[in-house]
Amino acid sequence: MTQDEAKQLVAKRAVEFVEDGMAVGLGTGTTATMFIRELATRVQQGLKIRCVASSDASHDLGLSLGMDVKTLNELPELDLYVDGADEVGPGLVLIKGGGGALLREKIVASAAKEFLVVVDSTKLVERLGKFPLPVEVVKMAMPVVEPKLAGLGLNPKQRKARSGDGLFLTDEGNYILDCACGVIEDPEVLAAEIRGIVGVVEHGLFLGMATLALVAGEDGVTEHRG
Ligand code: 5RP
Repeated sequence: MTQDEAKQLVAKRAVEFVEDGMAVGLGTGTTATMFIRELATRVQQGLKIRCVASSDASHDLGLSLGMDVKTLNELPELDLYVDGADEVGPGLVLIKGGGGALLREKIVASAAKEFLVVVDSTKLVERLGKFPLPVEVVKMAMPVVEPKLAGLGLNPKQRKARSGDGLFLTDEGNYILDCACGVIEDPEVLAAEIRGIVGVVEHGLFLGMATLALVAGEDGVTEHRG
């Protein structure tokens, strides 16, 4: 099974967790995009749901597929948030933000009663940290924040725009520093240290947020609880 096939499999399974009348948070990234497409098919077949997306891209995709996509202003409480992850560790601790949407993802996840993580099995790790940890930073604070993250031994690197010479800009107009920090011994401690730096908006450690992970691999889809 290829990684894309595994993502497609788990996206399809996740749709089974959505019930009529639910308010659903839509994640961001390739797996979340597959989920949105699968969910839209169910909507076209008559499923009645309202959604809020964690990025402009997912918002626009949902609308283009005929889904009822609202803002958090209109729909501040969600039943379920479904999103991918870059790493899933024991206890459902996550690294997210590979697609640069970590801030809105964390906000939308925090508005949901349940957070269903959908990944292929390559994302499962014993300890977080192989995937560079994204940190979202206010533009003007970059020259102040970057050396402070370096001082913590996190090896920050400015994320480049997908095209052109500039830096990547998030939907909220901030920069991202990707921190190749290696194994994260204590995610709670690291999260607090990073949040303590003025100018940091958010980091990609999602701790105590996910309620269930669906993991697709050679044996099909398995459920993992925290
Ligand atoms: C975007 C994210 C994504 O969920 C994460 O990067 C996983 O993406 P993909 O499903 O494409 O592997 O956090 O900010």
